[in-house]
Amino acid sequence: MHKIIINGGKKLEGEITISGAKNSAVALIPGAILCDEKITLANVPNISDVDALEDILTHLNAKIKRKKNGELHISSDTIKNRKIDKKLAKKLRASYYFMGALLGKYKKCEMCFPGGCSIGTRPIDLHLKGFEALGATIKENGDMYTIEAEELKGARIYLDFASVGATINLMFAAVKAEGTTVINNAAKEPEIVNVATYLNSMGAKITGAGTKRIKIEGVKYLHSCFHEVIPDRIEAGTYEIIGAACSNNLKINNIIPEHLESLNNKLREMRVNISVNDDSVYIGERIKDLKPVSVTTEVYPGFPTDLQQVLASLMTQANGESDIHETIWENRFQNLYELKKMGAKVKIDGERAYIKGKTELKGTEVYATDLRAGAGLVVAALLAEGTTIIDNADLILRGYEGIVEKLRAVGADITLK
Ligand code: UD1
Repeated sequence: MHKIIINGGKKLEGEITISGAKNSAVALIPGAILCDEKITLANVPNISDVDALEDILTHLNAKIKRKKNGELHISSDTIKNRKIDKKLAKKLRASYYFMGALLGKYKKCEMCFPGGCSIGTRPIDLHLKGFEALGATIKENGDMYTIEAEELKGARIYLDFASVGATINLMFAAVKAEGTTVINNAAKEPEIVNVATYLNSMGAKITGAGTKRIKIEGVKYLHSCFHEVIPDRIEAGTYEIIGAACSNNLKINNIIPEHLESLNNKLREMRVNISVNDDSVYIGERIKDLKPVSVTTEVYPGFPTDLQQVLASLMTQANGESDIHETIWENRFQNLYELKKMGAKVKIDGERAYIKGKTELKGTEVYATDLRAGAGLVVAALLAEGTTIIDNADLILRGYEGIVEKLRAVGADITLK
């Protein structure tokens, strides 16, 4: 396990370029299985979650070429629909996308319950109910699932919760089904639009992605395509928050600003000096008196749960009490126990947390309990006086391409060991 070591208190100046979105890439890569020809994906982030998906595709005998320029070439004509065992499936949550992709292409998938960060119980019942509605039967044997259909038939599906993973998985399972599928109460996240655009550029017939009602007319064949991964809004948001904490003029490039409106709105409310351009955001010098704010996590376009833990570290610098209401994941305040070790004044009460500032954070040894908790600790360590050692930093590398190099290039004193 790696550690990230940060000597805090440095002012950050310069430019940071955002990589391709993890949560898009981890769906687009398994989605390549549905294509009957070759796929080229561009702007694929070099993160360990992508390595884990590559391992699964290799196990399935797909042909993959990963280029230094961020392109990934995938041919699935050699695929063998093998069982995906615990060791491969548990590496990441997004391994669940192989369920929809293999079911959609071969009408069968055998795989273990997915892994991922421990931020809640993370069930997949909505995915499974949707597969059943399309005609699949599901057998569970411990952690192993066999999902099989003689024929997949379009259906009307209502999601009890607008789940990102279930919406994408059901698009995968329905894209080659016979007839029309309608997903109601679909998730509206930008990654869903990115996946629908990808499938449509292979010849799929999907409309309504980005709204609550997605319609999929099944097609028989999906041809080759070139597709670009959208910029990572969570990585971008993380660097915006880092800018708000430590900027001495920081420009963040390759952003789609409309994906970040809820965060930008909160940062302005905190009195962060932020200006938004067409595809970049500029954060001016940090002002001393940040205002406390209230944040409730919601599905897109609400405030993203994936930025809540990152913003919590900045809240320690506001004059007064900020609060967070986490409505998506039930176990997403682990980072606050680590922040406490650095001197933060926090109180946790069920799905709510209260952070009282302003606190001078002190460097110490802390533990990244999950990916975004780790990113929050990076923010805290950059702010803190002295040295912070972040243990279990491999979790951070799952989702942030070149985080150490990107921060060092703008003046941070940061190393990976
Ligand atoms: C995706 C993101 C993750 C983000 C989350 C919410 C990926 C790879 N990950 O995760 O970073 O935090 O969206 O924006 O894209 N639920 C059920 N049953 C299900 C599925 C989900 O009850 O079958 C519940 C979950 O327990 C959770 C909520 O729905 O409370 C959100 O889950 P979902 O949108 O599915 O998240 P993921 O797709 O796993």
